[in-house]
Amino acid sequence: MAAAADAQSRPFAQALKEAQSRITAHMEARLGGNDPLHAAMRYAITGGKMLRGFLVLESARLHGVDDDAALEAALAIECIHAYSLVHDDLPCMDDDDLRRGQPTVHKKWDEAMAVLAGDSLQTFAFELLADPKIGPHALVLIRGLAQSSGKDGMVSGQMLDIAAETATTPLDLDQITRLQNRKTGCLISWSATAGAVMAGADEAPLRRYADALGLAFQIADDILDVEGDAAKVGKAVRKDADAGKATFVSLLGLDAAKDRARTLMEQACDALSPYGSAAEALKEAARFVISRDS
Ligand code: IPE
Ligand code: IPE
Ligand code: MG
Ligand code: MG
Ligand code: MG
Repeated sequence: MAAAADAQSRPFAQALKEAQSRITAHMEARLGGNDPLHAAMRYAITGGKMLRGFLVLESARLHGVDDDAALEAALAIECIHAYSLVHDDLPCMDDDDLRRGQPTVHKKWDEAMAVLAGDSLQTFAFELLADPKIGPHALVLIRGLAQSSGKDGMVSGQMLDIAAETATTPLDLDQITRLQNRKTGCLISWSATAGAVMAGADEAPLRRYADALGLAFQIADDILDVEGDAAKVGKAVRKDADAGKATFVSLLGLDAAKDRARTLMEQACDALSPYGSAAEALKEAARFVISRDS
């Protein structure tokens, strides 16, 4: 039983809102600067759900990790996530004009700025994790983020995603699962286990939670592309099929994809049993992930 004895459960909506405002305030404190590069970096971080940062803060809370350390790590993952989206939206990738209801970075500034803002968001994340307040397990956290975001993680998933658009044979279930795990799952997994890593505790239950949550999250994103309302989602929808994207929806159909997401949500919740009621907000997060409309 890895949970800190005094960790109490809180409702998810309140916990997510609190995480968003704390991470945003921390961004403003740590990422000042009036030049366009800093402005584009802040713009890219702002306005999302900050679910990954929330997972960091919540897993840190479960393990009694110091708040200041947890905030550095939460901002770090939101920087990596923001960088991945800025580059994902570029004309050479998904070519999107809208993100979180606002113009994408290359539309608001230009493509060069989007490349550079993404680059510096990535390096800034590692600068944050190298802060002494992260504590004795910083290197494990840093190595994990490099692995989760790089050539065997998110970037590799993006590469498989792009390659699948022009593949002559459609991907099978195993191949799509591998693609999605890399593209989306790795960063979610890093986030949900960060608290255990910082505390030097057993991360296995949170990793099982995150493995299921990450896949459920990307299935929900793919379902939103088919069924979502662009005004609510804040980004273009109905793009995946046109682009020939390989998704659970394209392979299984909508109903089976929804069933799969529900099963994964239940698996994610079951994985949290060692934490008892202290993990209620994380369970609610899993329910939110498959029922969200944005
Ligand atoms: C969108 O992620 C990109 C995927 C990995 C599917 P989110 O849905 O978490 O995006 P924001 O940060 O809330 O805008
Ligand atoms: C993006 O996946 C995943 C990463 C940026 C790693 P998508 O291309 O499906 O995300 P959206 O739909 O543009 O948010
Ligand atoms: Mg993409
Ligand atoms: Mg995209
Ligand atoms: Mg998508």
